[in-house]
Formats: sequence, C-alpha cells, structure tokens
Amino acid sequence: MTSYALRNASPAKSRADAVVIGVVPGKGRRGTPQLAEGAQDVASAYGRRLAPMLSSLGVRGKAGEVAKVPTHGTIKSPLLVFVGLGEEPGPREVRAAAGNAARAVTNAASVALALPADGVELVRAAMEGYLLGGYTFTDYRSNGAERESAAEIVLLTPLARRKEATAALEAALAVTTATTTTRDWVNVPGADLTPPVFAESVTRAVRAATKASGSKVRVTVRDEKELAKLGCGGILGVGQGSAAPPRLLEMEYRPKGATTHLALVGKGITYDSGGLTLKPGSGMATMKSDMAGAAAVVMATLAIAELGLPVRVTTYAAMAENMVSGASMRPGDVLRTYSGKTVEITNTDAEGRLVLADALTMATEKEPDLIVDVATLTGHMVQALGDRIAGVLGDDPSVAQVLAAAETAGEDAWPMPIHEYIESRVHGSKIADLAQHDWVRWGGGLMAAAFLREFTAGRPWAHLDIAGPGYNSGGAVGHWTPGGTGYGVATLVELARSLAESD
Ligand code: BES
Ligand code: MN
Ligand code: ZN
Repeated sequence: MTSYALRNASPAKSRADAVVIGVVPGKGRRGTPQLAEGAQDVASAYGRRLAPMLSSLGVRGKAGEVAKVPTHGTIKSPLLVFVGLGEEPGPREVRAAAGNAARAVTNAASVALALPADGVELVRAAMEGYLLGGYTFTDYRSNGAERESAAEIVLLTPLARRKEATAALEAALAVTTATTTTRDWVNVPGADLTPPVFAESVTRAVRAATKASGSKVRVTVRDEKELAKLGCGGILGVGQGSAAPPRLLEMEYRPKGATTHLALVGKGITYDSGGLTLKPGSGMATMKSDMAGAAAVVMATLAIAELGLPVRVTTYAAMAENMVSGASMRPGDVLRTYSGKTVEITNTDAEGRLVLADALTMATEKEPDLIVDVATLTGHMVQALGDRIAGVLGDDPSVAQVLAAAETAGEDAWPMPIHEYIESRVHGSKIADLAQHDWVRWGGGLMAAAFLREFTAGRPWAHLDIAGPGYNSGGAVGHWTPGGTGYGVATLVELARSLAESD
C-alpha cells in the first residue's frame, strides 16, 4: 500500500529516493531555463552548476521533457527528475508533467514531488497527474503481474497544513482510484467482461467500497427475465444476438440532507461487433472499450459517495453485448422501448442509443434535477473533435454545467448542437415512432443525441459522447496512458460537487 502525504518541506533536504522538479523556459529567445515554483532551494544548492547541467541534459522547460540525474550528494535525495512545464504552468500543465514524471520514476520506494503547488487546484493536479500517469495494466502479462508502486508519495506544498489542501488530496485520491478501476474494466477483453460478469464485478466493487468507507450505496442488477417483464426492448434487442445475456444495473446514493438529485446513465456495451451491420475488422479492434461510459458513471458514483458529497445520485449502467448470431436483431426489426416508443432498426451498429433509451426513461421516473449520460456513442464525434475531446449535447444550462465541471476537472470537452433539422431525422421512420438511424453520413453524432433526447421526458439533460477520449489507442502523454482512460469520472465528481455547492 502506498501512503500519500502533503508536507511543507524543502526539496533539497527531503530524504526521498527521487525528487521531481519542474522546469520552465527562460525569458527571451536565449534565456536560460529556470526551476519552477517549489524548487528554489534545489536551484540554490546547485548554484551556477544548474544552467550548464540543464543545457547538457537538453532540458529547456518545454512540456513533455523529462530528464533524470543522480545528485551525488548535492541535495539529500540521490535522484532528481526534471520535468518540463512550459510557460506559465497552471493545473493542466502540472497534471501532465506529474504524469510524465510518474513513468520516469521506475525504482523508488519514496518520491517527493516539488512541483508548483501553492494553490489547491495545483495540489490536486500534481497528485492526480502522478497517480494516473503511472498507471499500467498488467493483468494479462505472464511476467510482472504486480504493479510496482512506491511506498510513499509526498507532495511538497506550502499549503500542507491547510484544510482545503488536505481535502484536495482526498479528492485526488478518490478520483484517481475510481479512474483506475474504470481503466481496468475498460482494458479487460470482451470475452472476460460480458454483461453478467461486468454486473457482478460492479456489485463487488460497490460492496467493497461500502465496507471500506461506510458510504451507503445500494446496488441492484436486473437480468434478462426482469428486463423482459419491464419491457426494456432496447437493451434486450441489442443483447439478443449474444450468448451472454444483458443486464441493467442500478445504484443509489442517498445521503442525508441532499436537496439536489443527479441521475447518471452509462453505455455498457461490453463488446461492439456492430451486429448484423458488422463493423470492418479495423473498426472492431478497440470495441471492448464500448462500456467505458458505464464504467465511468459507476465509479464516479462510488467516488462521490466516498467523498460524502451531499447530492443524491441514481445511476444506471445498461449492459449488453452486440454480437452476430441467428438470434441477432435485424435491420428492419422494430423494438418497443421501456418508454413505450417503438424504434425501427436500420443499422444494428447504432446500438448504444437503444440501450440508453431504456435506461434514460428509467432515470426520468426518479424525477432527478439533472440527467447526464456518458457513452462511447459515435465515431462521428471522434471525426469532429479528435480522440481526446468529448462532445457535450443537451439543453443549454445542463451542457454549461457539464462543461464547467470538465474544465475544473481537467478533462477536455466541447459543446455540440442538436438542431431542429437534425431532430426531424429521428422522426423519419415509415413504420415505427422513431428512426434509429438514416444512413445520412453527416451529423451522425448530433442525430444520436437527438434520438436520446426523445427519452429524457423534457428533463434537464446532458449527453457526453466519449467515443474519442474513452480509449487511448496511442502512447502515453502526461496523465493519459494507453488503453482505457477513465475519462468522465473526474468530470462527474466535479459536477456533483458543483451541484452540492449551488444548493
Ligand atoms: N461504439 C461505436 C462508436 C465508437 C466508434 C466508439 C469509434 C469508439 C470509437 C458505436 O456503437 C457505433 O458503432 N456508432 C456508429 C454510429 C452509426 C452507425 C450511426 C459509428 O460510429 O459508425
Ligand atoms: Mn456500434
Ligand atoms: Zn457501440
């Protein structure tokens, strides 16, 4: 077990096995790089030797730079880790630099972070960045099954004794623990995380969290028989082609004194082959990640409960596997959703909106003040915004609330519109109440949101399309590691905090 602490101490005198120091670029074209806020006494310990050393290491203070040097007694710690912060570093830059540092520190029992940390947001960013940047997923490696982790991580900050800083550390730990579990679930192959296994795994996580922190979160799982009784035709339709039956998981956190009620809904497609409208091979490669939304809403709920935020949260995770078999739903089929609205299927690969339809309606029945769904919903959103930014759609005030939370949480998000003419497309079925899809290539991500809105009963609602940022197919950058990213957890926890504060 790693211990985490804040300390108001000098980095030059800290006894840690490694000390992480930030570097910022020098002023002007030929200015020499400087050590960042928090590292001044290391600069004094090196004196005039610092500039030539940074120069021979090629460290100029640019974001992404990392260099390690043995200190040979110049300071107490045997190893210095320099990380570039770029000009005017804020929480975002500190989070990224701390993430880069975490991967550079490979063999240290204790680590001291001497990054800029003279504000609570910076304290949080440094801790989150370091904990997330060091993430690896080794469950499927035959060697190195255990994660190597330091016994002690200390953040050096002048705010060490302040209540707000301790609270920031606690928040960082709750959010990163939840994000890490989300990443783990996303990274597990589809064969090993079918809907029943996923539901069971979540149930176990809820029980463990309840035991550990005493937070009261209730969890119920509905199986395919119960879903049939309830008339959840969307979830059942998507799941009917798979050997593993679908599940609908519900969680409830109901703290005393809560006046605001937040409902979260997550897309939990444990594998998306496309169904009969089969995806090409390349499109299927990462589709074990199609449950990233469900994983994020579940773990955000647990983090909110662990932090004891005074907001009532009701969470739904709609779990199904979209597969090909003689029992699969067909294009042309009509499904009756839980809301009673019928849907004509035209593309079995647009399955996310079908499972979300049932779960969204169920959420509206609880009459929450705000519904937020999180889903790896459309490739269109990745085309539009790239693979690190989520699209946010819904009514203006709800979208604004989610965007503000994402900004504070350090997750990138951008608003997208649901125009009237886009909405008309979901009413274009010749046989059912709604058309699921229309084969028009343009604006597919917007049409998907227009479809979801049909199931929100006019309540305040925002939809987060995380098809891009839910999964990182590339390499590690900052706190962003390969595979599942856990995107959304931090934003949802922040959203719950902002709802609690606005009471
Ligand atoms: N799970 C996919 C969306 C996706 C694509 C997630 C790329 C992550 C990366 C979703 O179920 C899907 O297949 N969407 C279709 C929508 C279309 C049929 C309207 C798509 O993106 O092509
Ligand atoms: Mn699909
Ligand atoms: Zn999908």
